[in-house]
Amino acid sequence: MARQVSRFVCQNCGGEFPKWSGQCASCGQWNSLVETLVVPKKKTGFGGRRAFGREPVRLSQIKGKGVMRLGSGIGELDRVLGGGIVPGSVVLLAGEPGIGKSTLLTQLALRITSEVKKSSTSEVLYVCGEESPEQIKLRIDRLNTTPGQSKASPGVTQLSFLPETDVDEVIVTIEGQKPAPGLVIVDSVQSLSTTDLTGMAGSVGQVRECSYRLLNMAKKTNIPVFLVGHVTKEGAIAGPKVLEHLVDSVLYLEGDKKHVFRILRAQKNRFGSVDEVGVFLMEEAGLKEVENPSDVFLEERQAGVPGSCLVATMEGTRPVLVEVQGLVNPTQLAVPRRVATGVDQRRLTLLTAVLSKRCGLPLGNMDVYVNVAGGLNLREPAVDLGVCLAIASSFKNKVLPKKAAVFGEVGLLGEIRQVSFAAKRAHEAKKLGYSLIIEPGKVKTIRDALKILG
Ligand code: TYD
Ligand code: MG
Repeated sequence: MARQVSRFVCQNCGGEFPKWSGQCASCGQWNSLVETLVVPKKKTGFGGRRAFGREPVRLSQIKGKGVMRLGSGIGELDRVLGGGIVPGSVVLLAGEPGIGKSTLLTQLALRITSEVKKSSTSEVLYVCGEESPEQIKLRIDRLNTTPGQSKASPGVTQLSFLPETDVDEVIVTIEGQKPAPGLVIVDSVQSLSTTDLTGMAGSVGQVRECSYRLLNMAKKTNIPVFLVGHVTKEGAIAGPKVLEHLVDSVLYLEGDKKHVFRILRAQKNRFGSVDEVGVFLMEEAGLKEVENPSDVFLEERQAGVPGSCLVATMEGTRPVLVEVQGLVNPTQLAVPRRVATGVDQRRLTLLTAVLSKRCGLPLGNMDVYVNVAGGLNLREPAVDLGVCLAIASSFKNKVLPKKAAVFGEVGLLGEIRQVSFAAKRAHEAKKLGYSLIIEPGKVKTIRDALKILG
């Protein structure tokens, strides 16, 4: 047998080195190198090359009309996946701890088991390295208390649990199961490890190796696998970042834990678009799908208050109306505050500067606060105009017209620039009764736009 070689892999950046050292030469992190196994390549004569390679497969030989996707039973999840679960695919569901990943996947397991219970793909295996089956049962009981849903979900019997953290054991179990499971859920990839490596569960080496082995299993058996991966606020440590290139799709479940909204976003999708997002509400009995996000985001809006501006933003390819709130107050500090919640802090500083310079608003001795109602995070420049109008409305203490909805990017010269999906945004606003659209083209500069406040 060929000698097994190991390398030292940085747990911070994933850099590989032949020898151990105290500091990683590529990222500068201290004490981050961990020994990792390198599987030697098989040699088959001809200096390592095969005498006869594999026979390539012709397009005409590939059977089937595309892939048969498995409906997940959760519309918003199917939308993000591009129309259902592709057999043999590995989907990474990433998110901060406590955001609702296990909840979403438990719901998926319940729905799918009850939806396809007559077909051969009805078995769902839930590999629970983090929680015990009893704890998951508690969650299932909680989810089943939804009004209007029968308490004993018909599919529950086809859901089995595997409390195991050794990835090799997990794979052997899956491959030996009869009938083969139609879906495997691994919660979480950070709890798995292999004894072939010395690193701890959750380290870059272990996370990568375990995922790789599961990926190979999925491709071999054609069983789709969902992997849960935790991310921390700071980002990349041993988290999904090191897996993104490995897996087929990467979905992020995002949201503010203090709010009920959860947004499921595709970061990468080999079998669909990355523009789609799924919107959920985290309720007492699990995640609830939201078909018309605008309705929900505007539910608690108080009309007729200065500082409130309705913005037509995009979540993926879906237009969503949200309320941007501004508050301007004389400052008590030497340097006035600029506090942004839900919009970029630097963008807010820039927009207040534009308002001061181009529109003559004396914001230099004012604290400026901007908040997006509902805990949504708006990252696109199309919300600029809404932020400016909310600030100006609060400063002038004047209410924006009741039927106004706005969007547009604001440049440093005070000009209003075009944004994508203008027609979709306007359509959504009109659909909800906001007929006065303030958009690029209709107003040329931010100074013009402020005239609406009189
Ligand atoms: P969980 O799915 O365990 O998070 P993750 O797996 O991403 O770490 O969800 C944890 C939170 O969700 C927890 O704070 C409680 C809340 N929750 C509800 O509000 N309603 C529910 O029905 C469930 C199951 C959880
Ligand atoms: Mg969990």
